[in-house]
Amino acid sequence: MGRIPIKTSEELQAMREGGVILKEVLDAMERAVRPGISTLELDKLAESLILRHAGARPGFKGYHGYPATLCTSINEEVVHGIPSADRILKEGDIIGVDCGVLYKGFYTDACRTFLIGAVTPEVSYFVKITKKSLQEALKAVKAGAYVGDISAVIQKILEMYGFSPVIECTGHGVGRALHEEPEILNAGVKGTGPQLKAGMTLAIEPIASMGTGEVETLGDKWTIVTADGALSAHFEHTVAVTEKGHEIIV
Ligand code: MF3
Ligand code: CO
Repeated sequence: MGRIPIKTSEELQAMREGGVILKEVLDAMERAVRPGISTLELDKLAESLILRHAGARPGFKGYHGYPATLCTSINEEVVHGIPSADRILKEGDIIGVDCGVLYKGFYTDACRTFLIGAVTPEVSYFVKITKKSLQEALKAVKAGAYVGDISAVIQKILEMYGFSPVIECTGHGVGRALHEEPEILNAGVKGTGPQLKAGMTLAIEPIASMGTGEVETLGDKWTIVTADGALSAHFEHTVAVTEKGHEIIV
């Protein structure tokens, strides 16, 4: 197992500042999503909001050749949907909008799933429970806890309500690199894995399916979809581990 970086207070401050920019982007996305808008329009808006801040850059663009600022994953798309002019949101869709910012040498990474207009009660409930799994998982974060504690909570909440964690997609440490140690599985066993220390920064990202949780990658080599066509939802926060718990960076 590689080493898990501990951030200094100056480094945490840089991440907080990047987090403020990323939160502004996600808040703007929340206001912008509506039937009729394309995912490319969302991407352009997100990129321009980031570039307004001197020294800030989209965190995903160019990462292993990824072509955009956002990952926009609609309905059965799980993660890494590529924004496109011909992907137009329509009433009843759900969309995961995932974004990263690079600022003062540090990445922050966060995602929210939005409902487009009126969705069915079942779908709205599914998205709510996926969000709840992240909120509950955050309560497991504190110095001395284990990475497996986070994974176990995500799995427990999703399965308790009849949904499936997508175990092929994972959370991760985040900082000077977008993806650092540790890997944070979306299912696991309490008390296992690396122990958390204050100053670690983690991107915790439950990714759930209304179906089996099995996934496939499309021919674009990026978009991951559910194998059974079931809807998928995704929420992600970047947090810092503290002695008593956690601090949400974004
Ligand atoms: N939050 C996503 C992840 O951690 C971001 C993907 S970035 C991409 O995997 F550049 F690879 F798309
Ligand atoms: Co991430």
